[in-house]
Amino acid sequence: MKLRVDLLPHGGYSDTVLVVDILRATTTAVAYLERGASALLLTRSPDVALALRDTTNAEGDTVRNERYLLGGERGGLPIPGFDFGNSPVEAAGQNFTQREVVMNTTNGTGAAHIAATSGKHVLLASLVNAHAAARRARALAVEEIAIVCAGTDERVSLEDVYAAGVLAEYLLAMGEFTIDDGARIALTLRRNLGNPLEALSSSSHGVYLERLGLGDDVRWAARISESTIVPTLEAQQGREGVLR
Ligand code: MLT
Repeated sequence: MKLRVDLLPHGGYSDTVLVVDILRATTTAVAYLERGASALLLTRSPDVALALRDTTNAEGDTVRNERYLLGGERGGLPIPGFDFGNSPVEAAGQNFTQREVVMNTTNGTGAAHIAATSGKHVLLASLVNAHAAARRARALAVEEIAIVCAGTDERVSLEDVYAAGVLAEYLLAMGEFTIDDGARIALTLRRNLGNPLEALSSSSHGVYLERLGLGDDVRWAARISESTIVPTLEAQQGREGVLR
């Protein structure tokens, strides 16, 4: 079995893909499902998300489809018109039972779409669900597991590479893999930074979120393997990426 880590999304996946954007999209996705969401829909743009929820009736009034709640961010801040930002702490305080959450974020949902163009199995991974995600990927993969780091604004994110190292450590303990240079980089980073909270708090995006007053999200995202929820992309059925 091959194990590869893409420090940024490249595409060309043929087997099982673990998408990583731990500050904060994939961490928040786990929280939505933990709190009862029946599905996650990852859209390609905020407008697609708004059009799913809002329609206009014959009188020209906006009609909301209460089945959908919109969550997402640009620059870390909530998208105007959305119901939620992209905070796992905020999500963990809500009840999403019988609701579907439509997500669009700066980097994470785009990385998931890149993975979905060719990946056979696409899973969302973070530190909070790392062991469960690694276990699910190991069970599904035939030839290769690709860990895809979303990055931030097309630049490598330290926290995503660190999380890829945690996932790679779990996978190497589960079986034999030939690893690429990206995996070696991720494992080296994980083994040198050690403490997850230090790694996340010192990352550029972690510092940025702290400055926005969102440091609780950073601390939330640093908890390793506290959830067994693994958001899994369903086969594309004409709808935006649907995960459950
Ligand atoms: C991303 O998509 O890069 C993150 O979700 C950004 C954030 O939530 O701050």
